[in-house]
Amino acid sequence: MKKVLVLLLLSFLAGSTAFAADGGPYLADRHVARGMKCADCHTPDNKLKTSGDLDVCASCHGDYQAMIKKTEGRYEVNPHGQHEGALPCSECHKGHKPGVNYCGGCHNFVYKVP
Ligand code: HEC
Ligand code: HEC
Ligand code: HEC
Ligand code: HEC
Repeated sequence: MKKVLVLLLLSFLAGSTAFAADGGPYLADRHVARGMKCADCHTPDNKLKTSGDLDVCASCHGDYQAMIKKTEGRYEVNPHGQHEGALPCSECHKGHKPGVNYCGGCHNFVYKVP
């Protein structure tokens, strides 16, 4: 009986974590909550700003090399270790909806994109 309750509790916790990850707050809201403005990411007509060949994200977080270092060892194949050069960060990281496992379109990699 006790075991059943523990299992129920665990599945409840797992379920609510999944809900929090998919139901927001999304990436843009989490940045705004840290004091950033829409204009930190957007032009006045709400296009995503750029940073050289990459999205604006790289101006604060760094390029793919920097991101590989930062997320090293979390997945067997690093999601930032990609082979398409100036791939937009926003192919995976969405501002106002859940992130997308872009690589999963061709590979079996399962990435949870924040
Ligand atoms: C951390 C960066 C970031 C911040 C801050 C941010 N956004 Fe975004 N926004 C994005 C990204 C990335 C996209 C493209 C992906 C998507 O649609 O989620 C986007 C897309 C949009 C779009 C859709 C544009 C289109 O062409 O479809 C609108 C509108 C928008 N944002 C408005 C806002 C507003 C208003 C704020 C401030 C409250 C804001 N954003 C703050 C990153 C950001
Ligand atoms: C104006 C600077 C700035 C810009 C532009 C920016 N970020 Fe951030 N971001 C931060 C800061 C500051 C933090 C909090 C400290 C940290 O985790 O590095 C953060 C945190 C994050 C986190 C981890 C925390 C979380 O809430 O998920 C991710 C992922 C992230 N940013 C992705 C992005 C992406 C993708 C873009 C482009 C769409 C972007 N950022 C644009 C400054 C920025
Ligand atoms: C192929 C999809 C993909 C692309 C493209 C991508 N990312 Fe990520 N990113 C991820 C995934 C997956 C994680 C979560 C890694 C983890 O769990 O540690 C992540 C995590 C992050 C984080 C949080 C790191 C932390 O300390 O937890 C930041 C910041 C970030 N990415 C920035 C960027 C920037 C900047 C770019 C573009 C130069 C970019 N990402 C492009 C998939 C991607
Ligand atoms: C449009 C399809 C496509 C997408 C999207 C894609 N890849 Fe690939 N990837 C390939 C192909 C094709 C190869 C070459 C396969 C081979 O040589 O066996 C490859 C090879 C690789 C390799 C080398 C594998 C090996 O065994 O040598 C890695 C690592 C890799 N991709 C990572 C990624 C990552 C990370 C992403 C997401 C950012 C991604 N790929 C997105 C098609 C894709």
